[in-house]
Parts: sequence; C-alpha cells; structure tokens
Amino acid sequence: MESRPPPAKKFKTSQPVCGQRRNNALLQEMEIEQQRRELPIYRARGKLLGQLRQLDTAVIIGETGSGKTTQIPQYLYEASIGRQGIIGITQPRRVAAISLAARVSEEKKTELGTLIGYTVRFEDLTSDKSKIKFLTDGMLLREAIGDPLLRRYSVVILDEAHERTVHTDVLFGIVKAAQKKRKELSKMPLKVLVMSATMDVDLFSQYFDRAPVLYLEGRQHSIQVFYTKESQSDYLHASLVSIFQIHQEAPPSHSILVFLTGQEEIEAMSRTCREIAKHLPQGCAQMSVFPLYASLPHLQQLRVFQLGQKGCRKVILSTNIAETSITIPGIKYVVDTGMVKAKRYTPESGLEVLAVQKVSKAQAWQRAGRAGRQQAGICYRLYTEEEFEKFLNMTVPEIQRCNLASVMLQLLALRIPNILTFDFMSKPSPDAVRAAIEQLELLGAIECKDSQIILTQLGKKMAAFPLEPRFSKFGVRLESSRSNTSNIRQCLAHALFLNAAELQLDGTYATLDTRQPVAIHPSSVLFNCKPSYILYNELLHTSKCYIRDLCVVDPEWLYEAAPEYFGRKLKGVNS
Ligand code: CDP
Ligand code: MG
Repeated sequence: MESRPPPAKKFKTSQPVCGQRRNNALLQEMEIEQQRRELPIYRARGKLLGQLRQLDTAVIIGETGSGKTTQIPQYLYEASIGRQGIIGITQPRRVAAISLAARVSEEKKTELGTLIGYTVRFEDLTSDKSKIKFLTDGMLLREAIGDPLLRRYSVVILDEAHERTVHTDVLFGIVKAAQKKRKELSKMPLKVLVMSATMDVDLFSQYFDRAPVLYLEGRQHSIQVFYTKESQSDYLHASLVSIFQIHQEAPPSHSILVFLTGQEEIEAMSRTCREIAKHLPQGCAQMSVFPLYASLPHLQQLRVFQLGQKGCRKVILSTNIAETSITIPGIKYVVDTGMVKAKRYTPESGLEVLAVQKVSKAQAWQRAGRAGRQQAGICYRLYTEEEFEKFLNMTVPEIQRCNLASVMLQLLALRIPNILTFDFMSKPSPDAVRAAIEQLELLGAIECKDSQIILTQLGKKMAAFPLEPRFSKFGVRLESSRSNTSNIRQCLAHALFLNAAELQLDGTYATLDTRQPVAIHPSSVLFNCKPSYILYNELLHTSKCYIRDLCVVDPEWLYEAAPEYFGRKLKGVNS
C-alpha cells in the first residue's frame, strides 16, 4: 500500500480557497491511510493473505474494531484474490451494509457504487464495475434464488456470524452447497469466510468441514467495563441517570450510545432527555438526542453518523441495530441496559411474539465494542457482574425461535431437493417445520402430494417478494380505491386470515387460530373501539399479549379467504 504525499507544486497562490480545500482533502486521505495502517489487522496482513490464498473456507475471529469488516475485503482485492468475481460481504442489517460500503469506498478513494457498492432491500448501489459488495444476508439469499451457485461471487464473507439471523443460518447451508457443487462442476472456486468477534468457533469450524480458525490478535483502543453494584429494577430510570451523570462530567465531544429495546421506549426516552436537558444549570453543555431503530426512515437513521455540533453532546438511543458492525463517530460511552426485544415462537400456539428479554454475553460484548472504535472508551452495564454471568453465552439462533414459513418457502424456491433434511447448522424443531408447512399450504403457496412438497404458481410469485409469505399473498390489482378501503381490507383478510382476533362476550379479544387471549395495544387508534373482528400484524408481549398494526374486517371475508381452514376450526369448536 502506497501513501500519497501531497503534490505541492499543483497549488496556485492565486486560488487560495480552492488550494486550501484540496489540501484538506489530501490531509484527510492521508489520515485515513494512517488509520488503516494503525489497525491491529494491518500487522497480520501478509500472514493472513498467505493463509487466505490457500484456503477455501476459514473462520476468522478478532476483537471488535480490529479491522475485519473494512479491511479483509480490501486486502483480498489488493492482493488479487478473488478478482475474477465479486467479493460479497453480508451484514445482518441494512444500516451496517450502507455505512460500511461508504467507509470502504472512502478508504479506497472511489465513488460509492463504482468499485465498492451495496445492495439492501429496495436499494441497489452497485454497477458492472463493483468488485466489493456489501449486502444484507437477506439480499444474498434472494440472489441465491436466481442462482443457487452464486456464480457472480468469487468470495462470500458471512460477517457477524454470531448473530445467527435466520437468513445467515440458511446462507451457511447455501454457500456450503454452492462451494461443493462448483468444485464438482470445475467452475470458479468459491471462497467462504465466516467472521465475528464473539462466536462459538468450534461449532462453525465443525459445520464447515473442520475449516481452520484464524485468530486476529489485538484491539486498537481499550474499553473499560463497569457493572452496577446492585441490581436495577428500572433500567429506563437507570439509563436516564447514567446519561445525565456522564453529561455533567465528561467533555461534550464525548458522545453517548444507549442500548434500549424498541421504538416507543426510545421515542419516550428521547422526549424525556430533551426536556431535562432544557432545565439543566447554566454552564452545562447542550444535548442533541438521536433515536435509532429499524423502522425509523432511512435518512433519519443515517443522521447518527454525522459529526456532532461543537460544544453539544450527542446522545444516541438505539435498539440492537447499532450493536454490531457499525462505527458511529465520536462514541466514547456506551450504556448497556442488557435488554433486547427479540422474537419468540411457539409452534403449538402458532404465535410469534416480540418480547423484551436479557441479551446474551456475545451481544453484551458487541455492545461494549461500540465504545472503542475511534478512541479508548467506557461501557456502563446497568446490571451486576453476577447477572452478566447468568446471561446465555450465545444468542439462541433465530431459526429456533421464529415462524419458519418464509424460510421454507425460500428453500423451495431455491429448489432444495428435500427441505425437511436441509443442512442447518442448528436444526429447527420438527414442530416448527410442520407448522410452517401447514401455514404455506393454507396460504396456497405449496401443495403436498404423495409426501412431496410442491411449490404452486402462487407460491413462486410469493417467494419473489422480499416479504413474509402472509404479506406477499396480498398477488392487489393496481386501481384507485377512491377512498373506499373495503377492497384493501378484503385483500388483507385474504392474506392475513391466520392473524385474526375476535371480540369475546366479556369485551376481551382472542385469536381465531388458537384462542390465545390478546389485547389491543394502547398505541392503536382502535384502542378504545370494540370491533367484532380485527386483523393484526404484530404480537407484542409485555405485561400481557398485545396486538398492534390493526385493521377491521368482516367475518365473511375471512371465511371466503380460507373456507376449509375455518370449516375445520368450526368443527373443532362443535365437537
Ligand atoms: O469488523 P471490525 O469490528 O473488526 O472493525 P471494522 O468495522 O473493520 O472497523 C475498524 C476500525 O475502522 C474501527 O474501529 C474504526 O476505527 C474505523 N472505522 C471508522 O472510523 N469509520 C467507519 N465507518 C468504519 C470503521
Ligand atoms: Mg465488523
């Protein structure tokens, strides 16, 4: 890697402003080059490339911030490893894929979307020239539906493997099979690299046919971790106290990242912080609060990456969306509540709920890692060390706690010969698989004939949408509803009939599918209404089981949507 000294003779004294600007740009380039050289991974570059040149598959583990995600793709490209195809790096979240692509293209001094690009849902910033491509795991999976051998790719890096999102787990099986098949067909070899800072390396190595584990040593910046002395009964109150304690003691340029669990909690906490900040004693710095969660509009999400104003503290209140991969400039303090909202699924009841629960140790270490990306940092854990010791080591793979209908549909679209024996790293429960197949059959996506599962024409169409099957079933004619919503609601009924709830005589609600008692969420516009039948999009488990994102429907529409299913239900009730 060559450094670029500024070509001083090009600066003209007659254009001082332009010259100054160019000078600044060059300084910035040199600074970035310097930063790259100071990363712990830089010292291992030669040895690492030697190993990666030889290996088909490797598991790479190294501290957060050591330079795995930003450097390894560049190193491979610079050493002409995998130049015959695309080097693809998957990320569990779109904000990570976008910000990493932007950073790496800045490091390589190219325009984003040329040599380095990204592909996330509904957005593709790549071109024919793109050789390094950051993409969400879900997008690579969709590409695999078009080409299960992933022939455009020479290298696939499955990053943040410890997160075990359902998409990554399916991808493990897909890339493993693609690699084997390409070898058999003597096609361009596929190199597979699996990376994380906090993973169970033995499990991964074993799954990838005893692939070697490469350890990257060193962390660039130290991180001090503090626990509370006593258990905290109210983590929101404890976060608030921590934020304002730091705010009063630390210089305003030190930004704070707080991990909370969801949108409402974050928006409420943002309002409280802004309110308190208005009434602080004179001399206290100003505070800017930025929320960050998955459903926040994309451009607002990216605001957290902007540098803070001088003299004003930046506080970011985020879900686990900021837990891995990303570098938010200026973060010095991380406040970790130790809580996360995660999916939980019970096949017997057919319910997939989002529930607040404790994080795993792996997640807690990733959170702490966000404090030491650009400077030495501090992580305050709002739980005791004893409590931390009781956290699970690793997050339970999403595939073992979610509704599998979407995965099963994708595996069928991928023409996997037998979806029931797919090579999963962690097998989902047979009950969950059975429930998913039943659901797909009810939605008309598959047909089960002579113990064979066949994708229907409708199923093929549904698999083409980057949506859950119950949403992709919506197949609506484009015409104005002329402010009459009944045809849209009827359409929703045809797709979401499994998510219907019925008003009971005592004024409460129960789901039609499993008679689970549910309540309308207080944030819903229907909170004080009592329609007879409603559809819901999400189940949220807090003090009770809430339903939200609701829509009123006629019971006839539900019956029309799935007469056989509701017939069976009625028989069950009568017998
Ligand atoms: O993947 P890993 O956690 O090992 O690190 P990385 O994402 O490659 O980032 C390595 C370092 O590059 C970070 O710790 C930051 O110092 C720097 N970086 C940055 O300043 N801005 C970014 N957008 C990304 C990385
Ligand atoms: Mg990384």
